[in-house]
Amino acid sequence: MTQTVRILLIGLGNLGRRFCDLLAQKGPEVEARYGLRLVLVGAADSRGSAYDPAGLDPARISALKQAGGTVADLPGVGSADRTAADLVGTAEADVLCEASPVNLQRGAEPGLTHVRTALQRGLHVVTPNKGPLVLAYRELHDLAAQHGAQLRFDGTVAGGLPALYLGQRDLRGATVTRIEAVPNLCTGYVLELLGDGLSWEEAKARARAEGVLEADPSFDLEGWDAAAKLVILVNAVMGIPARLEEVDRTGITGLSGADVVAAREAGRVYKLVATAERRPDSRADLRVAPTPLPADHFLARLGRKQMGVIYHTDIYGTIMAAIDEPTPMPSAATMLRDILDIYVPGGYPVAFDRRGTENAELVS
Ligand SMILES: NC(=O)c1ccc[n+]([C@@H]2O[C@H](COP(=O)([O-])OP(=O)(O)OC[C@H]3O[C@@H](n4cnc5c(N)ncnc54)[C@H](OP(=O)(O)O)[C@@H]3O)[C@@H](O)[C@H]2O)c1
Repeated sequence: MTQTVRILLIGLGNLGRRFCDLLAQKGPEVEARYGLRLVLVGAADSRGSAYDPAGLDPARISALKQAGGTVADLPGVGSADRTAADLVGTAEADVLCEASPVNLQRGAEPGLTHVRTALQRGLHVVTPNKGPLVLAYRELHDLAAQHGAQLRFDGTVAGGLPALYLGQRDLRGATVTRIEAVPNLCTGYVLELLGDGLSWEEAKARARAEGVLEADPSFDLEGWDAAAKLVILVNAVMGIPARLEEVDRTGITGLSGADVVAAREAGRVYKLVATAERRPDSRADLRVAPTPLPADHFLARLGRKQMGVIYHTDIYGTIMAAIDEPTPMPSAATMLRDILDIYVPGGYPVAFDRRGTENAELVS
């Protein structure tokens, strides 16, 4: 039996566009392996939306967005008058994928309203957008429970690294006593270049050319992004209701290239490390700071486009995980992982692969 999953996708930038590619490329495989037909019924960007209950063409939307267009212009289904919020509030769907900008300075809008509205309507929500989770973690979880919906946000921390699944699911039964993470790609990249002897201006220019640095890089370089991810990790994995204001935050802009080079010569590697230390009063000390790690430290060994996390636990020892993320595809793919986690909670194929491929052995 095939189950249809109707998807609304808000935000068609780096991630949303790649998620469209994934739907086009992986759709048949997902249907064969899991019995799920993923149908994109609605999509929105900043200029309007498109809606078709029979299904939009994700490959066409990806190409349109790559060419700088808007879904509002899609003949017959597009509209500049129907905003993303209108779509989320009215369209018939099962899952909202929310991939609009973080906008923490503006109350995480419009993402927070999109997520709230969808959950109130009983839609499951999948989002790589940190903003809503950082500002309203508990509220959104309560809302989801109240309306029988699920909320998944694997892509909010360390790109495609399943840091949250590892911490929440695979460490079941443990108490996580300490978290250390390098959850931000941009700062690791810039620090590496500074260590190679480039000036700040050269390092920023290279990072920008590589698409690693935002137009306004202060969110990353001043440590806000890492702090936001730490807050989500601590809420989700430690079960502690942490807030952004509690993070003792220092970015990397106070470091000079000479500091980074000198550290390297002394056998140390600067990383922007996010740390949470569980306290006896069931709270946590939260810190984001550039840290000269010994060169053999797991996080010091991360390459320039890698992110990582270390969980110190009471019963499973110390668990470390890292990802090499040369493009945003792994981050976009977290939306697929989250949807599959909602509909195929065991994580294994529900039936033998109907193509009779090697996947069959997974369920034997
Ligand atoms: N890039 C990554 O590697 C990465 C990794 C993990 C998590 N994330 C998170 O994923 C989200 C998306 O990231 P991204 O890199 O794809 O961002 P992006 O490239 O800046 O794309 C943002 C998209 O949101 C749309 N948008 C902006 N304002 C909107 C509004 N009011 N209503 C509807 N749509 C609106 C934009 O529309 P236009 O196309 O019309 O401009 C664009 O399509 C962010 O929250 C980000 O933090 C990103």
